[in-house]
Amino acid sequence: MKTTNKKLTDWVQDIARLCKPATIHWCDGSQQEYDRLCSELVDAGTFIKLNEELRPGSFLARSDPRDVARVEDRTFICTADPDDVGPTNNWRDPAEMKALLHGLFDGAMRGRTLYVIPFSMGPLGSDIAQIGVQITDSPYVAVSMRTMTRMGDGALAALGDGDFVPCLHSVGAPLDEGDADVPWPCNAEHKYIVHFPEERSIWSYGSGYGGNALLGKKCLALRIASAMARDEGWLAEHMLILGLESPRGEKTYVAAAFPSACGKTNLAMIIPPKGFEGWKAWTVGDDIAWIKPGADGRLYAINPEAGFFGVAPGTSAKSNPAAMSTIERNSFFTNVALTEDGDVWWEAMTDDSPARLTDWTGQAWTPDSGRKAAHPNARFTAPAGQCPSIDPAWDDPKGVPISAFIFGGRLSTTFPLVFEARDWRHGVYLAATMGSEATAAAEHQAAIRRDPMAMLPFCGYNMADYWQHWLSFAASLPNPPKVFRVNWFRKDAGGRFLWPGFGQNMRVMEWIVRRVQGQASGIESPFGLMPRYEDLNWTGLDYDRSAFQDLMEIDRAAARAEAEDQAALFARFGTRLPPALEEERKELIARLEQAPEVWALPAA
Ligand code: OXD
Ligand code: MN
Repeated sequence: MKTTNKKLTDWVQDIARLCKPATIHWCDGSQQEYDRLCSELVDAGTFIKLNEELRPGSFLARSDPRDVARVEDRTFICTADPDDVGPTNNWRDPAEMKALLHGLFDGAMRGRTLYVIPFSMGPLGSDIAQIGVQITDSPYVAVSMRTMTRMGDGALAALGDGDFVPCLHSVGAPLDEGDADVPWPCNAEHKYIVHFPEERSIWSYGSGYGGNALLGKKCLALRIASAMARDEGWLAEHMLILGLESPRGEKTYVAAAFPSACGKTNLAMIIPPKGFEGWKAWTVGDDIAWIKPGADGRLYAINPEAGFFGVAPGTSAKSNPAAMSTIERNSFFTNVALTEDGDVWWEAMTDDSPARLTDWTGQAWTPDSGRKAAHPNARFTAPAGQCPSIDPAWDDPKGVPISAFIFGGRLSTTFPLVFEARDWRHGVYLAATMGSEATAAAEHQAAIRRDPMAMLPFCGYNMADYWQHWLSFAASLPNPPKVFRVNWFRKDAGGRFLWPGFGQNMRVMEWIVRRVQGQASGIESPFGLMPRYEDLNWTGLDYDRSAFQDLMEIDRAAARAEAEDQAALFARFGTRLPPALEEERKELIARLEQAPEVWALPAA
């Protein structure tokens, strides 16, 4: 062991005493260690080596079908006062939860190796980064952490004698003398993903999958970090970070939050379409942003992660060519299908599905099997540095300056393609009330599942206090970023998408960039400032003025119903709700009262 950090050595000793592993291994993060763990995973049947010619250095894992996704109902936040977690989190008493967890973890690692994984969330040595140490009995988690974080000796050196977030994880499947192991050990009965924001620690039991088990991601980088950020005056957000470079070489960075299933990874890796020659889009991160005010009064963001853990189904050379290049090698895939020549496949990866596959459960599959070949939450895990659009500054400890925040949802009616918040307070209101339709129904007024700032499952404290943190945050900024709402998913009465989306979203991004630089105009609407037809760049796309009118129009009754519906969200927070948000809601209703029945952009 290469550390004299007493908190760390004491903690490892205490946990080893509790969990009773067969051996302990301190991960150094080297290539040799990674290769050895991968080959042990192959021997154990957890990994299947993919065809070295088609997918070099890559593996397929199939999880237990009872362990395929984050388990929000088994995710807990423990604070002394239940009001501190609020109505959108599962609260438990910290002492009671600790007692329960001690029972579960007692002997939980029998027969297994305990891996100690020092990791940095963020570039090593960045003053925005944080060090965590995960203890786990899953070698799959150990290799995943090497891809997803800066893991090993470098992180241990950066830690020195400093403080770290202890992250304890067990799959909850001890092996006794004579027990045979299974390819994907987990605990089918008990799963607990538990956060103690007051002592900044994480205990996760029973699952080996994704955000339940790679504790740097949702648990540390969002739930614990959001509470740290509130205490210390920064932001830990569920946001992609994208750099947009104009033909003149000016680079503008934006951070954007979307609920799941809105194409966040696609936007993070957007390729400027025909008509945007000379523009470049640079990826800094696809999931999480940590944002701190710099000495110059601007906001600086880092991507705390070092890899992408993306949803595979739907990813294709059409929807996201940069992601497809990123995962060409040195990647692993969980719960996708296996092709006859030893490569991977998932729904919508190609126009036609292969004639025969092995599905994610290991069974033979043909297109007429009547079931999906890949699990809908199947994932790829790949190093960020392999992304062709990765920003040269993605690993810069200083971070990148953020000029705009973008919030979106998947909404088939009511919401136009894009509008700009009137000011910061209005922007926070727009972010707090965002969401996606609960069903992808084409009918008008489908219920909106609110997902404030896309943080509903990830905010480690009371959402009302989080809104207050956002509201007060800008007070110290001389020139806070502009805030925008977007919606790529509006449909016409026949249920057809009104907007082509994907690379064409660059037209909206360019308007946002020009707004930030004071170079684009728009027109006031009851929602906020909107681009007119002539404010967007249409080179290379045949999209007529009347289609744009439809895309941008505001139906007063629908907008009013939406504003009324937000009252139910706000009411959940009682007196803890920041009054500014209710004032914004009332102001919107007042603006709608003054508006025509159908508010439309000027016809010409
Ligand atoms: C994710 C999520 O996996 O947001 O990134 O669920
Ligand atoms: Mn996410």
